[in-house]
Amino acid sequence: MKFAQLNAFGVPSEVVDCVEGAAPGQPGADQVLVEMLACPINPAELLIIEGNYASKPPLPAHLGIEGAGRLLAVGEAVTDLAPGDLVMSMGRANWAQQLLLKAGEVVKAPPGTDVAQLSMLKINPATAQLMLSDYVDLKPGDWVIQNAANSGVGVNLIRLAKAHGFKTVNVVRRESLIAPLKAIGADAVLLDGPDLAERVAKATVGSAIKLAIDAVAGAATERLADCLAEDGTVVNYGLLSGEACRLRADQAIFKSITLTGFWLAKQMRAMSSAGLAALYGDLMPRIADGSLQVEVEATYGLEEIKQALAHAGREGRGGKVLITPNGPVS
Ligand SMILES: NC(=O)c1ccc[n+]([C@@H]2O[C@H](COP(=O)([O-])OP(=O)(O)OC[C@H]3O[C@@H](n4cnc5c(N)ncnc54)[C@H](OP(=O)(O)O)[C@@H]3O)[C@@H](O)[C@H]2O)c1
Repeated sequence: MKFAQLNAFGVPSEVVDCVEGAAPGQPGADQVLVEMLACPINPAELLIIEGNYASKPPLPAHLGIEGAGRLLAVGEAVTDLAPGDLVMSMGRANWAQQLLLKAGEVVKAPPGTDVAQLSMLKINPATAQLMLSDYVDLKPGDWVIQNAANSGVGVNLIRLAKAHGFKTVNVVRRESLIAPLKAIGADAVLLDGPDLAERVAKATVGSAIKLAIDAVAGAATERLADCLAEDGTVVNYGLLSGEACRLRADQAIFKSITLTGFWLAKQMRAMSSAGLAALYGDLMPRIADGSLQVEVEATYGLEEIKQALAHAGREGRGGKVLITPNGPVS
């Protein structure tokens, strides 16, 4: 059985190998055996591999925060799942041809769900949904502003905001993204830049914006904060610029802007199993009916892991890079 192995922290395309290992064997009573079909490569995986994430795993390490697959076998005590079921994995070593998981670590998908989209359900849709719900009490018609709006999280946020009746101002760094983001429901799409606040005020006809979602940090945080109304909140969830979040004293003091951070892993640890079930119970049908979806730019086999990681690290992509451990998926 093939799986991806991290051997040392460093340049992703150099330090991860596809290695051959023993198959995991048959499931124990409360386990399931999953044939992994698709797994995205997220920016967080690149940070883990570089040794720049919240913590460093002991080496050599298995990788892959997300993935979807089909059940090959279920343990004798598992009554609600059956071989052939399509599932999302809640495990954290998904870049492998097969995985043994506890039955409670998979979420069953409706038959016919797009496997590529299912593989991207665990992180980005949940991140977008929770950032929209947990910080500001938004009402239909309210505006939200976000940067890196063409990212996986950003596209999910546009689609979820639309479904909830919120309006979005979407900040990007390439003009070619304006039309495609408007086509999926973005209300305004603007290029980032020094005069952002004036252009946002024009696009929203001066509406008060209470929530800003920031994946970039650095001076981009400050520019988003300038677009907010008094007492607004900036939720930072990424460090794409590699810089510290910037907030000026006048923004904090005179406008009472709050800067806070979101980390899905921490949020999920604090959630009850009923809360998690409700979150994915809401998101799964949206993935299954296609109302939540992001573009896929390329797929690679596990044996092409180095090329896949190099591709995922490129800026200006047109969508996600996926690994398909058991061959192409339709
Ligand atoms: N805190 C959490 O719990 C959590 C959860 C999920 C994701 N995240 C973070 O959210 C961010 C987006 O993740 P994703 O999976 O949605 O990304 P993705 O789909 O892989 O897309 C990457 C995005 O990053 C943008 N980007 C890359 N470098 C940039 C830079 N220097 N300045 C501005 N934008 C830049 C890209 O813009 P171009 O297309 O113009 O290159 C693109 O929009 C990442 O930072 C990720 O780590 C955090």
